[in-house]
Amino acid sequence: METLKALTERRSIRQYQEKPVTAEQIQEIIDIARFSPTWKNSQTVRYYAILDKELKDKIAEVGTLGFSKNGNNIRSASALIVLATIDGIAGYEKDGTPTTAKGSHWQSFDAGIACQSVCLTAYDKGLGTLIMGIYDEKKIAELISLPEGQSISALIAVGYADEAPTAPKRKTLDEILTIL
Ligand SMILES: Cc1cc2nc3c(=O)[nH]c(=O)nc-3n(C[C@H](O)[C@H](O)[C@H](O)COP(=O)(O)O)c2cc1C
Repeated sequence: METLKALTERRSIRQYQEKPVTAEQIQEIIDIARFSPTWKNSQTVRYYAILDKELKDKIAEVGTLGFSKNGNNIRSASALIVLATIDGIAGYEKDGTPTTAKGSHWQSFDAGIACQSVCLTAYDKGLGTLIMGIYDEKKIAELISLPEGQSISALIAVGYADEAPTAPKRKTLDEILTIL
């Protein structure tokens, strides 16, 4: 699939078919996402793929800060990827001092790039995704036994789309681009 088509036609999917997503499909997606660029090639992004329905339903039940729409999104999708990052490396020197004034910003930046890679790769492979930023980090960390020193940057629902949403309105080029 062409890159530009994927970039413009991928949509957030909130309704999924019951058809399962396999561990092999998740492996194929992350095997591509691992080529995402990272701060000094530090590669601190970690992926926790939840295919177990019971665990996924538990996350939907207690891990969305009461935002029921995300609970429904998680229940509907066959798979959920918890995108985590190792703390204190991206954006930092080896002695732990921040390289720039932006501190841990670069950790999230790397996670964001990886997140888009996951979504576009899944799209290329015929799967829909939804990035979710509203979640209970502490509860989900407990439920998946997230190792100490890692933070959750986003949740990504993955599954076969059962809807074909139109693109939400985008700002015009004039509104967002300044050429100096
Ligand atoms: C960082 C981030 C967090 C998001 N969090 C949520 C969320 O918690 N729940 C949700 O339904 N959609 C969430 N979205 C999806 C956006 O609403 C969606 O990307 C946007 O409306 C544009 O639609 P599109 O992805 O179909 O182009 C999030 C997207 C991003 C990038």
